[in-house]
Amino acid sequence: MLLLRRCHSLTRFGPLNTQRHQVTPAVASCAARLCSSSSSSSEDHRSHQRVHSLSWKHALAGLLAGTGAVLAYGLHHQHKAERADTGVQTLKKSSSLPIFSQEEVTKHRSLEDGIWVTYKGGVYDITEFVAMHPGGDKIMLAAGGALEPFWALYAVHNQEHVLEILSDYKVGELNLEDLKKQQAVKSSDPYSSDPERHPVLHINSLKPFNAEPPPEILSDSYITPSAFFFKRNHLPVPQVDPASYQLHVEGLPGGALTLSLEDLKTRFPKHTITATLQCAGNRRSEMNKVKLVKGLNWGIAAISNATWSGARLRDVLLAAGYQPDVAQWARHVQFEGLDTDVTGTTYGASVPLNKAVSEEGDVLLAYEMNGEDIPPDHGFPVRVVVPGTVGARNVKWLGKIIVSAEESSSHWQQNDYKGFSPGTDWDTVDFKSAPAIQELPIQSAITTPADSATIDRSDGTLTVKGYAWSGGGREVVRVDVSLDGGKTWQAAQLRSGEKGQAPEPSPPPGRAWAWKLWEITAPLPPDAQELEIVCKAVDNSYNMQPDTVSPIWNLRGVLSNAWHRVKVKIRKDEEEE
Ligand code: MTE
Repeated sequence: MLLLRRCHSLTRFGPLNTQRHQVTPAVASCAARLCSSSSSSSEDHRSHQRVHSLSWKHALAGLLAGTGAVLAYGLHHQHKAERADTGVQTLKKSSSLPIFSQEEVTKHRSLEDGIWVTYKGGVYDITEFVAMHPGGDKIMLAAGGALEPFWALYAVHNQEHVLEILSDYKVGELNLEDLKKQQAVKSSDPYSSDPERHPVLHINSLKPFNAEPPPEILSDSYITPSAFFFKRNHLPVPQVDPASYQLHVEGLPGGALTLSLEDLKTRFPKHTITATLQCAGNRRSEMNKVKLVKGLNWGIAAISNATWSGARLRDVLLAAGYQPDVAQWARHVQFEGLDTDVTGTTYGASVPLNKAVSEEGDVLLAYEMNGEDIPPDHGFPVRVVVPGTVGARNVKWLGKIIVSAEESSSHWQQNDYKGFSPGTDWDTVDFKSAPAIQELPIQSAITTPADSATIDRSDGTLTVKGYAWSGGGREVVRVDVSLDGGKTWQAAQLRSGEKGQAPEPSPPPGRAWAWKLWEITAPLPPDAQELEIVCKAVDNSYNMQPDTVSPIWNLRGVLSNAWHRVKVKIRKDEEEE
């Protein structure tokens, strides 16, 4: 309760930030503290324990659903209870509630003046809820206005319990005239033009669309078919007309350069690479098992491998006036996507300038994926492919390139996709203190058999398959597999090409952008009824994976690359009949 009161006082009377669209870090971290911290006050200990266990269950359910909405539900109910406890009057739905004009509502868009929103003609004072919002300070975007356009973008809100939360904050009705005006500006579903997707994908979130293929599909083919390639979208897929598409290149002494798709295809040599993309959150679900983290609950398949063709970024930068002396002041190349949120903010990221301009960096402005136009989900018509680098920097639907002394100021570069100590929590995290993830560490996972599968003893052997990859162009040189939880090991066979076909030629040192698939067939231990299968990979810098998750756990669940473990049962002979 003490914690809740603290949060409450922060939202009402704490150090205030009157700027629209911003919440003080203290407020933003407050919600996280509510569910992660243990109470320091002994008098509140018992009630806090009850509250904590409730919120834990709600938080887990929320994360598994790919959302924190349920977490908010839990927190909201604690808050409601507290308000009742302390005698604070809870405003109920009532026909006698006052009528407000839109102008009046618009005045309430800061923590100082209160945060008001409208929804379907109702007026709500959500000031107290701001610190509990699972989406953090994004809620402030709606301050003083209608919720509908935001809920259309973040469809996770379209659930009964979310409406229930909202109803408790109702303070009045919007006058009829303003309601009609609002209804005239009907919000359409920004995801309505998202492309169709293959039904085999495991969906982690529908809007925005985030999905991964079943793991066993990954190891079926060296090149992942585009339909099965994992999809990681933060926003709706933008509709881009290839005929009028323009790519702007800025920040170089030669002035701005604008290129059409045709220019990219005809003015620059076409270069093709095979490169694996991996999301920073791949295998996050294993971190969630140690302790809850924030983010989509990815399994082991937020990684895929494709061929990419396009113009080299280096060539385009040279055409835009890049010369070596630029490196004296510029350090980064920023990318902006054409996908935007309701405020017009685009997805953005940046990579170091030396990666972008180096001939060996192989950074592409790709217009083809697996020999065809890049599909809408993967960045049509142009995306940047930064091989060896975390998925987040491979900006899709590329609209702008900026050579700069600074990193991208985007949320995804500054306040996300960074790694922290297992001891860092949402109270203590300082995103400025950690570098943005670029090259990813060594990774491998078992794609088949699946965890908890039952294996036939049949011919007395077991075939285990998987993938292995390392960031920064470091080549995977070995994958060790154990059938006894890591006591004994055997090296698996590595493959860098389709089965039965000639392998792709060995990459030059430092340019191993593609994964290796691996396979091993080993005798089943005669009396074993259960096996713990483990894999771990080694790259050419002799980097190896850590054996357990706990020492690399971090609050965002990124960089999850511990030994992958799968437990299987062996069917007894008599069960086979
Ligand atoms: N680019 C834009 N414009 N918008 C995005 O949401 N997501 C990034 C990156 N590029 C993203 C983006 C992230 S986090 C990842 S992991 C990769 O795209 C995923 O690429 P894919 O969907 O082609 O697999």
